[in-house]
Amino acid sequence: MNAMSTEFAIAPISDEEVKAALDVAIAQIRRNLPDFTYKAQNHSSVNNVYPAVENDQWTAGFWPGQIWLAYEHTGDKVFRYAAQIHVQSFLHRIENRIATDHHDMGFLYSPTCVAAWKLVGDEDGRKAAILAADQLLDRFHPVGGFLQAWGAMGAPDNYRYIIDCLLNLPLLYWASRETGDTKYRDVALIHARTTLAHSVRPNDSTYHTFYMDPVTGGPVRGATKQGYSDDSEWARGQAWAIYGMALSYRYEPLPEYRDAFNRLLAFYVKRLPADLVPYWDLIFTDGDEPRDSSSASIVACGLLEMADIVGGEQADAYRLLARRMMKSLVDTYAVRDPSLSNGLVLHGTYSKKTPYNTCRGEGVDECVSWGDYYFMEALTRLARNWSTYW
Ligand code: GLY
Repeated sequence: MNAMSTEFAIAPISDEEVKAALDVAIAQIRRNLPDFTYKAQNHSSVNNVYPAVENDQWTAGFWPGQIWLAYEHTGDKVFRYAAQIHVQSFLHRIENRIATDHHDMGFLYSPTCVAAWKLVGDEDGRKAAILAADQLLDRFHPVGGFLQAWGAMGAPDNYRYIIDCLLNLPLLYWASRETGDTKYRDVALIHARTTLAHSVRPNDSTYHTFYMDPVTGGPVRGATKQGYSDDSEWARGQAWAIYGMALSYRYEPLPEYRDAFNRLLAFYVKRLPADLVPYWDLIFTDGDEPRDSSSASIVACGLLEMADIVGGEQADAYRLLARRMMKSLVDTYAVRDPSLSNGLVLHGTYSKKTPYNTCRGEGVDECVSWGDYYFMEALTRLARNWSTYW
């Protein structure tokens, strides 16, 4: 069945509802500025309240990204001022290599420093983002053709990449355009090709992580860290793959990216419950396992990104599905009472521990920082002709 032709009970969100949801989100972001201008926001909330932390997590870029989106909507200089304070923190972080020995340079530097350069011409933002792209290039293994996700470079137990890394590639495309040096783009293309070759299973679901052979560069095996088990379908991993393919297609319009986007999306949609917000792993389609609302926001962004690129009837179908997903998120998952939460969206899942995965178990059924960011990004994409940070 064509995923787009499926009947859904959820109505598409209207323009008025988008605007109202943005107003609620921007008010919450404004309310949070005193706590999170000189501090970072934790990756996930604790009892729906984010603690303030140092800027040393992979997720630290998502809160400043929300501030930039709020600035775009309001033009209010208080947002610009706060976001540029974060830019200085990110410049310090990359110059001093503070918790940067991993691949998440795009998650960190695109919504903060690339955004700062694009929106207000912040030179320190540009400098920091190029340093971050250089750091990401240092994670590239020509043997296997991939960017190593975690751990010491070349460590045999970490000779692997993860599906999430597709969202780090736009930083490399941006750096090539900005510097005129194709080395960044070349690595992004090789990494995307490796990901498509090995991480997408024959049934169009995805492995979270994939090990490569350090000697031959050949594929070894897929595994999970945060999904239910090695052979399950982690809901956020599938979402990173969907949005990641759309972004790859924007920068290099290769037919295999568009084809993969449609196949990954069809698998995802088949596993959605009636309210279009997945359980944290797509092996669950009903019952009382926690949801991952962030996965739905990420997919909505991917749908809207691909719609902008392809146009026509296909774009209308992508936008319609994104509007339905956002209606569900806004009506049932968004924070309405700021006395109960300082986040934007409830019911995200960072890492749920199972007997079959290797994560620690944290942020289950909580607000998650990227969930709030992509929720804002999706609303922004519905509200205006948005020029991407990615
Ligand atoms: N990139 C890690 C995660 O999605 O939890």
